[in-house]
Amino acid sequence: MTDTEIKKGLAGVTVDYTAISKVNPDTNSLLYRGYPVHELAATQPFEAVAYLLWHGELPSETQLAQLRATERERRALTDDVKAAIDLLPVEAHPMDEVRTAVSVIGAADLAGIGNVMDAVGTPEENLDRSIRLFAALPAIVAYGQRRRRGQDAVAARDDLDYAANFLWMTFGEEADPVVVDAFNRSMILYAEHSFNASTFTARVIASTLSDLYSAVTGAVGALKGPLHGGANEAVLHIFDEIGSADRVTTWLDDALARKRKIMGFGHRVYKRGDSRVPTMKAALDSLVAHYDRPDVLALYDALESEFVGRKGIYPNLDYPSGPAYNLIGFDTLTFTPLFVAARITGWTAHIMEQQASNALIRPLSAYNGSDERHIEGYVPDSATA
Ligand code: SDX
Repeated sequence: MTDTEIKKGLAGVTVDYTAISKVNPDTNSLLYRGYPVHELAATQPFEAVAYLLWHGELPSETQLAQLRATERERRALTDDVKAAIDLLPVEAHPMDEVRTAVSVIGAADLAGIGNVMDAVGTPEENLDRSIRLFAALPAIVAYGQRRRRGQDAVAARDDLDYAANFLWMTFGEEADPVVVDAFNRSMILYAEHSFNASTFTARVIASTLSDLYSAVTGAVGALKGPLHGGANEAVLHIFDEIGSADRVTTWLDDALARKRKIMGFGHRVYKRGDSRVPTMKAALDSLVAHYDRPDVLALYDALESEFVGRKGIYPNLDYPSGPAYNLIGFDTLTFTPLFVAARITGWTAHIMEQQASNALIRPLSAYNGSDERHIEGYVPDSATA
């Protein structure tokens, strides 16, 4: 096999159909079940987009009310999950906390299912499991940040919608509607993006008929990587390194000389800009105005214009979302767990889609190791002669 036939990183390889989202780099657009994502971000609560990804249609008022009621019933940080998180060092990375929490929820829910064939679940059971994780993650992420700050958990409120309650549990105060709207938009933008690395990881695990919780646990591990979800955290580390707009040129000279990847820029599929950036940038602008922080945009714009000008590599969603989450008050380490809380909807939609039309995912490899050789003195027995 020649090197040209190897598709390293599966770059440009189409491996299956999906009806969940369409990423179109030619038109720089993203559709969730046919709807442009910027239209959904401007008009829908995140709960309605979760419903859309799972069911293929936006919910009626009654269907949205039912999903909201179920989500609110399951928001509480349960004792077993809190105890599991408390067993981890407070210095543990929050993505390790989230991965652990998903495992605890899954182990408890599947306890007693003896036959591994039954753990895969029915479509109804997996929709229920999806809603369970969708509802549980905000309390897990919020508790992680508060624990690192030495603060107690804040109980969920069932009079607030998903986004407002997430902010309430994190900061212990009701957020301004401007902040709630910007946060809601970010969750919708982060919810789904076809066969990205973490979603494909989830589909590979689901293709073995393993359970939904195992698939999500694997996806969390994949998303932690700085080439993927971990980039939004890394963007803030870069901003902290640079400090101010007037230091961008010097910093970039050094970074590029050392062949560093500039986090928040570039994309495997989009090559002329990420379709989600304009909507997330508008949300960032609304936060900059709300908090009166024009300095944030000075550094943001300086780094973008200089890097795009030099390398022709454009920002991805992580570039505007990092400073937006920083302005809202999330710790930098909390950023990628926020990505998990949003992407749990896309991951679980893909897990269910894989299960509905499954084939074990097992690609080939081209061997380029040692030629066949044998153990000195080995005498084959009758079985292997
Ligand atoms: C997400 O797939 C998805 O849909 C992911 C995601 C989602 O919603 O699920 O959109 C979320 O993960 C967004 C991406 C977040 N990651 C980062 O911001 C990390 C920084 N970005 C790069 O590592 C890179 O752009 C990737 C990994 C995102 C994409 O890289 P590719 O397509 O594999 O391309 P590449 O790494 O081979 O880069 C091609 C060239 C290289 O130069 P040469 O080695 O050929 O000279 O462009 C350069 C790269 O060095 N390059 C960068 C760069 N991105 C590409 N150089 C510096 N900084 C960068 N950010």
